[in-house]
Amino acid sequence: MEHVTPDQVDWTKLGFDYIPTGKSFRAEFKDGQWQEGSIVNEATIQIHEASPLIHYGQGCFEGMKAYRTKENKIQVFRPELNAQRMVDSAHRLAMEAYPVEDFVRAIHQVVKANKDWVPPYGSGASLYMRPYLLGNGPMTTVAPAEEFVFGIYVTPVGPYFKGGLKPFNFLISDYDRAAPKGTGRAKAGGNYAAGFIASQAAKKQGYADAIYLDPLTHTKIEEVGAANFFGITPDGQFITPDSPSILPGITKRSLLWLAEHRLGLKAVEGEIYVDQLDQFAEAGAMGTAAVITPIGSITHGDHEYVFYSKDEVGPLTLKLYQELVGIQTGDIEPPAGWIQVVDC
Ligand code: PLP
Ligand code: COI
Repeated sequence: MEHVTPDQVDWTKLGFDYIPTGKSFRAEFKDGQWQEGSIVNEATIQIHEASPLIHYGQGCFEGMKAYRTKENKIQVFRPELNAQRMVDSAHRLAMEAYPVEDFVRAIHQVVKANKDWVPPYGSGASLYMRPYLLGNGPMTTVAPAEEFVFGIYVTPVGPYFKGGLKPFNFLISDYDRAAPKGTGRAKAGGNYAAGFIASQAAKKQGYADAIYLDPLTHTKIEEVGAANFFGITPDGQFITPDSPSILPGITKRSLLWLAEHRLGLKAVEGEIYVDQLDQFAEAGAMGTAAVITPIGSITHGDHEYVFYSKDEVGPLTLKLYQELVGIQTGDIEPPAGWIQVVDC
């Protein structure tokens, strides 16, 4: 892969492709304990050919971002929530969890080591961080690993759905991404492999991505392949699905709070029946990568539900976007504890 330096990057043109920065964080669990982690100059990992990662999909990951403020500080958004979600994912997959405090410390270390790769304030780009946990070492029986690798790679990114803040169209998939009591709540790698085929089919038909229904009844909206779903009713309710098989998004939890406390909406986690989608005046996808992506339409079979407009962003979706991004980039006062400044 061709290596570029930060001064060669046009930050405003970034999409979501991997750009090597040369510095990652790595720690190993061996002989029953986590070894001290460190910054490494290596983008490849030695994985045993008989590892539970390769054969049984024993791996999970996280997604988070670092942002540059107007004052040229670098800050991260609620990193302890990603750390805790990775502990929860690890437990679901019978893995050795990486401790929350060590995770947060590693985030600060890896951002500091890559500080020149944090895109400038106002560019619309940020430094994406991918913590991961892998089951390594030989294990031929169907059983969890006894050795693990925890790592974090970083790469500068722009918008996940290309084209900026505009509505995108989504397609309801016939496939399930997770089983009712399966791994949907965990950020397990296998959930994403299970969704590739649905996502590819949606994109081939000209949609931005697939949306999944609940795997038990196939009547309720679950989530987008890489983000959570929300709808806003004309009477001011911000509603997002409550399901045991979706990922408990950090953006979703943040927007539930912001909708209620900053926008005066009624925030609801509840069931959203697909045949009642026309109750929404606006809709969107929310996540670290997706930020807030307005949803112009959802197609289910031969029915198309349009929200607000297929060309323009709805006013409440725009306000939520400005509030969230304003907090993340330091322009708007954050709720207590949401922002950590990285000491560079
Ligand atoms: N749902 C799925 C399937 C995701 O991959 C993501 C992205 O991480 C989300 C929801 C949103 O989670 P978060 O807001 O924590 O990024
Ligand atoms: C994220 O939003 O960080 C995700 O993990 C979603 C996707 C890019 C896998």
